[in-house]
Amino acid sequence: MRYRIWKCWLGTAAFTLLAPLPVVAADGAPPAPASAAASGTMPPAPAPRAQPRRRSSPPPLRAFVDMPTLMEHVLTPAATVVWRSNGFVNDAAGDHDLSPKTDADWEQVVTGAATLVESTNALLVPERILDPEWVRYVQELAALANRAYLAAEQHDLSALADVSDHLDEACAACHRHYHIE
Ligand code: HEC
Repeated sequence: MRYRIWKCWLGTAAFTLLAPLPVVAADGAPPAPASAAASGTMPPAPAPRAQPRRRSSPPPLRAFVDMPTLMEHVLTPAATVVWRSNGFVNDAAGDHDLSPKTDADWEQVVTGAATLVESTNALLVPERILDPEWVRYVQELAALANRAYLAAEQHDLSALADVSDHLDEACAACHRHYHIE
């Protein structure tokens, strides 16, 4: 009895493969042409499967704050952490080296540099791009900020100092181009 059921199922499957019937896909697409398969020159095309719908629109990037706020409250504090790591303060007791010494100090530099490098993506939100030159200035800043980030992760003070010396040039170059004081 079991054998017969199996044989019967196999027979149905073979019939389905050899004589494909037009199948309408779940998404309503017309069936693939079956003429070649029906004529026996090609194996039958598999029944079309429903495909996930492809997104054609870009991801929803948007600017949440205005440009002065982004500059003053995101880029500047992050860059300041990098600049401070290469600085001194001078008071009545003399010079105090601000370079990171403890692991906690280095973690703060990692935070600043990581924030700075990721903030360059915020500068590339389409509505913020003023002209084709904009992207190049952002990329220059991003390259430096990424070097600062890597130096901080590796606790490499001389590499960090080198980036810190050049970081303001990347800010100033863009400001000059757009006549920002
Ligand atoms: C890709 C171009 C670009 C780069 C790179 C850039 N800025 Fe700016 N920045 C601007 C523009 C544009 C403005 C003017 C914003 C406005 O007033 O609409 C500005 C303004 C500023 C201001 C004034 C904000 C205010 O309150 O008016 C500060 C501070 C500033 N930037 C800091 C920085 C620092 C620090 C860096 C580098 C770490 C930097 N910027 C890199 C384009 C840039």
